[in-house]
Amino acid sequence: MQVVIVKNAEQAGQAVATLIAAQIYTKPDCVLGLATGSTPIPAYQTLIGMHKEGLLDFSKVKSYNLDEYVGISYEHECSYHRFMQDELFNHVNIKPENTHVPDGNAEDIPSTAAAYDAAIVAAGGIDLQLLGIGHNGHIGFNEPGSEFIYGCHKVELSQSTIEANTRFFDSEADVPRAAVTLGIGSIMNARQVVLVATGEGKAEAVRRSLEEDVSPMCQASILRTHPNAIFVLDEAAASKLSR
Ligand code: PGA
Repeated sequence: MQVVIVKNAEQAGQAVATLIAAQIYTKPDCVLGLATGSTPIPAYQTLIGMHKEGLLDFSKVKSYNLDEYVGISYEHECSYHRFMQDELFNHVNIKPENTHVPDGNAEDIPSTAAAYDAAIVAAGGIDLQLLGIGHNGHIGFNEPGSEFIYGCHKVELSQSTIEANTRFFDSEADVPRAAVTLGIGSIMNARQVVLVATGEGKAEAVRRSLEEDVSPMCQASILRTHPNAIFVLDEAAASKLSR
């Protein structure tokens, strides 16, 4: 477990983009596990800049996103399908058929979720999984609870997640109440995990993840048992760590 602390969110983005670029250089046909939310945006902007300068080729890269809301269309401006198009895919040369986001609108979510896990295995597993972290310690939409759920599954969002994500919608009432998320199994099976957290609002979740017992009440804490996990933090997100 490595913890990298940099000055601010912009530097955290550069550090994460460096790790992702190194992954693509060492294995051009790698499988990336990608994340949405505001935290990864600086990393995506850095990657787009590298691509535009001719430094980075996504033509063989495959990607599997962590999660998607249930009950909003892919075209909705807050859907994670749309987010990935707007923030990364439309600006680099990744092939559309190589990008994957869970289906939050499937009629039979359990079977499409199981097929999503199977597709990741068939692609050779995730080489590098990028993660943000929720204020409640969630990774993907794996919310605090009594257990770690290993497979891709539907989840009811916690009140704290609904409140945190209201900033992307017109009002709290518009935030979907459920999502489909990759489970802890596929995340832990990734060969490398890169969690990025920036800002003081994440400091307590980061402290609990790194300094309290591994527990499903703080889902990110399980990453301490991963053989190749890196937390990239800015100074504010690291501010509650005791060492
Ligand atoms: P954020 O979300 O990057 O928008 O803070 C992170 C998360 O909830 O995992």
